[in-house]
Amino acid sequence: MIEEGCGGKPSRRKFINWFLNTAAGAFLLSVFYPISRYLIPPPVGESTAATVTLPTNPTEVKPNSGQIFKFGNRPGLLIRTPTGELRAFSAVCTHLACTVQYRPDLSHIWCACHNGHFDLNGINIAGPPPRPLEQYVVQARGKKIVISKSA
Ligand code: FES
Repeated sequence: MIEEGCGGKPSRRKFINWFLNTAAGAFLLSVFYPISRYLIPPPVGESTAATVTLPTNPTEVKPNSGQIFKFGNRPGLLIRTPTGELRAFSAVCTHLACTVQYRPDLSHIWCACHNGHFDLNGINIAGPPPRPLEQYVVQARGKKIVISKSA
């Protein structure tokens, strides 16, 4: 038996229909919103810092290694390639802004969030990252390393 509303009050059927439609909408939103966030990367804001000096002796950075440093309000990644070159990049993944890291076992840069891979030039080579990492200029100055944004 169906109870009908009277006097302008919503019936139980209308309430149930409203509730199910709302629940279905909430369910669909909870499914498709994360998918859309995964597929459409957010814009990544620029760091305000232009140069940072690390109190790291360049000779102490071992080949095939990497370390995170702070570049303004964002993380940076300093690496020494297996052939001995010092390079630095923004450590903010171009996919969904997780912090990337150097993987000595792969000899390249990796993002753990969604298995994104970047080569030693910061170029996205596998996984969902849509563009390369921002590369910085690295200068060894005595017992310090100066990292700056390229002009
Ligand atoms: S945030 Fe998704 S691969 Fe880096």
